[in-house]
Amino acid sequence: MLAVGGSNALCQFAFHGLTKQEERRVHLELIMQELDQTVTIGATVPTGFEHTAAEEVQEKLEATARVSKNRGRIYFDITTDKLLKVHQLKSLDNLFVVVKEYDDYQFKTTKEEVQIDWQELAAKLPWTNALEVWKLNNSIKKKKGRRKRTKPTKSDQCGNVGTKSTDTVPSDTEELWEDLEALEVKGNQRDVSSQPENDSEEEKRSEIQDQEPGETPLKFRVTCNRAGDKHCFTSNDAARDFGGAVQEFFQWKADMTKFDVEVLLNIHNNEVVVGIALTVESLHRRNITHFGPTTLRSTLAYGMLRLCKPQVSDVIVDPMCGTGAIPLEGVMEWQNSFFLAGDNNGTAVSRTRSNIKHILKRTHDGGSSSGLPLDIVQWDLCNLPMRSSSVDVIITDMPFGKRMGSKKKNWELYPSCLREMARVCKPGTGKAVLLTQDKKCFLKALSQTEGLWRKLHTVWVNVGGLHAGVFVLKRTAVVFGTISEDAMEPHTATGSQKGSMKDASE
Ligand SMILES: C[S@@+](CC[C@H](N)C(=O)[O-])C[C@H]1O[C@@H](n2cnc3c(N)ncnc32)[C@H](O)[C@@H]1O
Repeated sequence: MLAVGGSNALCQFAFHGLTKQEERRVHLELIMQELDQTVTIGATVPTGFEHTAAEEVQEKLEATARVSKNRGRIYFDITTDKLLKVHQLKSLDNLFVVVKEYDDYQFKTTKEEVQIDWQELAAKLPWTNALEVWKLNNSIKKKKGRRKRTKPTKSDQCGNVGTKSTDTVPSDTEELWEDLEALEVKGNQRDVSSQPENDSEEEKRSEIQDQEPGETPLKFRVTCNRAGDKHCFTSNDAARDFGGAVQEFFQWKADMTKFDVEVLLNIHNNEVVVGIALTVESLHRRNITHFGPTTLRSTLAYGMLRLCKPQVSDVIVDPMCGTGAIPLEGVMEWQNSFFLAGDNNGTAVSRTRSNIKHILKRTHDGGSSSGLPLDIVQWDLCNLPMRSSSVDVIITDMPFGKRMGSKKKNWELYPSCLREMARVCKPGTGKAVLLTQDKKCFLKALSQTEGLWRKLHTVWVNVGGLHAGVFVLKRTAVVFGTISEDAMEPHTATGSQKGSMKDASE
């Protein structure tokens, strides 16, 4: 028997000299340690950044993550006391607990046979641990009433996990601390380790669900995500057939929009993973409250930042910051570096400023503290108000020429950008990490400035369905102004705004 309430004496000792908030955190951690069991967590991550995410998992949880053949997913084992830390990782979009993984699932050849297999599978799966983790997860995530959900789209219904529509929750971790009392009460009432043997089927199911016979059944939906061309069924077929069997087994009620449990069926060729979702909304919108037309996912911004390997006291500049996704993510994780962000668009600058204010309010006692190591300025990237050789890292998400700017303008903008970035970047040590989908134009511009930049590597990513590249460049040791490639005058197509520049953080 596991008595969660038994941590009181330990708590009194551990709480000595702590503030109320620290006390709550320690208390939550103690409770989670007591609910200790090993489980496999699956996570969706920005496609292309699987290895970066695995690196973060290793660094922060000391767990080795497996990168799935199914791009955009990683898996790792943790003990449940680490569940809160998993929610705090910066590379992960959606989380789920794995019920069962099949590396080489043998699909039958006809639709009818596959249907029977799905139906049998639900009753065979080891649901208990995963459902316990789901319950623990619910306990640590505040459920202030049911969250708003958008109507399921067609792709939702046929199970494309990655294409769920808009979310509005700013910070999961913020909420996690709030429900400590609720967790304590639940923990006191429950013994999660006891599994009665030889129970009747009805009792066994009720036990799994922590539900009294006769109580209102849980609502659920099955989301199937399928990739591979050798299947004789669609993701819709699989979700329907497997969903029917889950419903029958648990006696849950199917509900596409107001579900309590989301069962995931991920199929990639012969790899099948059944899981239970632990996030209702993706964790990628954590820092942004004021969105723009091309706001970057925080998880992708984090992946790009990791490629820069920020060091203490580095000056890191995002010269085309838009709503500030990159510098905001940077400043939350690397507080010993200094971030400078700018954009030539006044609306973008004020959105970034509002996002900074919102974060300050949330994290620094109503915004009254001295703030974050981040300044925001309105400027033209092609004519930066900065000294030469003063920047350690340039990191930015360039206009793709689709929703932002135009391909035609990029032919002029990109070479000017690379030249001006090379001027402000420290020769020999400076780095640039640049995201663009306009690869042809970028590579041409790079070839025009090859004396100033050396391409180290490229990470291919998926940005809203577009195949884009994150180009990692190193500044050569050549001093700016000494070779022909940097002789061109900075272009002023967007107008130099030097005269009207003001520090927007004021
Ligand atoms: C792809 S968006 C960046 C989006 C940003 N990462 C975000 O999360 O919102 C590119 C940005 O470059 C800015 N931009 C375009 N030309 C510029 C220039 N010459 N100087 C400064 N910013 C520029 C645009 O105003 C736009 O905000």
